[in-house]
Amino acid sequence: MKRRTFTKSTSMALAGATLASPAILRAGSKKGSELRIGFIGTGLRGRNHVRNMIVEEGVKCVAICDIDPNAVEETKKLFDKYKVDQPKVYGEHEYSYRDMLEKEELDAVMIAPNWKWHTPMCLDAMEAGVFTGVEVSGAFSLDECWDLVNTHERTGTHLMFMENVCYRRDVMAVLNMVRDNVFGELLHLRCGYMHDLRHVKFDDGNGGLAFGEKGFAEARWRTEHNLRRNGDLYPTHGLGPISTMIDMNRGNRLVSISTFATKSRSLKNYVANHPKGGENHPYTQLDWQLGDVVTSTITTANGETIMVTHDTNTARPYSLDFRVHGVGGIIDFDYGTQRIHVEGTTEAHSWEDANPWLKKYDHPLWKEFGEMAREAGHGGMDFFLDRQFIQSAKDDTPPMIDVYDAATMRSITPLSEASIRQGGAVQQIPDFTEGKWMTRKPVFAL
Ligand SMILES: NC(=O)c1ccc[n+]([C@@H]2O[C@H](COP(=O)([O-])OP(=O)(O)OC[C@H]3O[C@@H](n4cnc5c(N)ncnc54)[C@H](O)[C@@H]3O)[C@@H](O)[C@H]2O)c1
Repeated sequence: MKRRTFTKSTSMALAGATLASPAILRAGSKKGSELRIGFIGTGLRGRNHVRNMIVEEGVKCVAICDIDPNAVEETKKLFDKYKVDQPKVYGEHEYSYRDMLEKEELDAVMIAPNWKWHTPMCLDAMEAGVFTGVEVSGAFSLDECWDLVNTHERTGTHLMFMENVCYRRDVMAVLNMVRDNVFGELLHLRCGYMHDLRHVKFDDGNGGLAFGEKGFAEARWRTEHNLRRNGDLYPTHGLGPISTMIDMNRGNRLVSISTFATKSRSLKNYVANHPKGGENHPYTQLDWQLGDVVTSTITTANGETIMVTHDTNTARPYSLDFRVHGVGGIIDFDYGTQRIHVEGTTEAHSWEDANPWLKKYDHPLWKEFGEMAREAGHGGMDFFLDRQFIQSAKDDTPPMIDVYDAATMRSITPLSEASIRQGGAVQQIPDFTEGKWMTRKPVFAL
């Protein structure tokens, strides 16, 4: 992708798309023309963000921080590839990111390491007064969710939760349909994260089996969670899109959750059947805690229920399994499934193909920038996500998916773990807005 000017694309958006989300692409910045960004954690995902942001004019990536020299080398290659100035590198030790925050006079920071670092790094970045973006994860405790909210409120520093699936083309089309009342008043929604990650969890980078210190990329840290935890470990790719449709924290809120898990079989079987594994492999002997399929039911203040599934270990195709169901209609949509029933339009008791509906309600941003977005990753949604981050940081305005949304969605993980431990007992989901949800207005993609 060629370098292009931020302001040029912005004026195109304003000219072409009346409904386009102006906050994604509006010109101008309170901070002047150049946004100074630093990146913490430049592994596989962090490098996606680096790549998307260094091609934007008006953005200067001044520093990166990663404790893995390999990740640093791979990141530096991107700067050569796109012919931009090399950043300053930090990463001598696990807290080097603090030196970066202190010394670099950053306007914004993107945080994308493994999960355990998300909260401490966000807290330090907000304390430093740097507009903060953080990759998705579930929390370890409710306390850390409150820490995010309290630190934001005390420092006034904004935090953007980088939930990219909210920007998926079909998701934004269905959001438009919800807002146009195609399904009537909402009753029930479904979503989840079903992604066979077994090969990722044991990847040693060489065709063998390893996790922990000898693992490659996510195998270094993600697999351990499967060994020790049982809950919805990754709720936000499903819940993020649904949260925009139900106006979560903006006229509605999540109230309670109850979670159940199946037995755990698939990781053991994977190792036992792997050419480099076998029945006697040490990993086959491990007592994996994570149930293969974890199912939560969430209730909302406005009377909807949401079913959320987590499954990253079974043999199955990728799916986020979206369903939106109102009193006047229902849609199932995902890769491979697009079916809809709208009362009064669709023949009674039958489904129709949802694709014409998705096309009709295609969001103006996608119509305008769909082609340009394609190279950015994950089918283009990362283009909109990263541009939103840049624009919100430039303006220093509250992000559309903010600290309250981050706290709420991340809280699902510890709450689901607690529920499973208590045999499915209902857990109350804290109101992280402390009542502000009643007056906050929907903003996403408007
Ligand atoms: N939104 C998406 O579509 C998407 C896709 C993949 C991953 N993710 C999320 O992105 C995050 C990173 O995932 P990944 O696949 O890039 O993992 P990864 O293991 O490839 O990269 C993590 C990087 O963080 C670095 N790191 C760890 N501790 C650090 C510290 N103290 N200081 C500096 N660097 C440190 C590691 O060295 C590594 O390079 C996770 O939260 C993951 O869930 C999101």
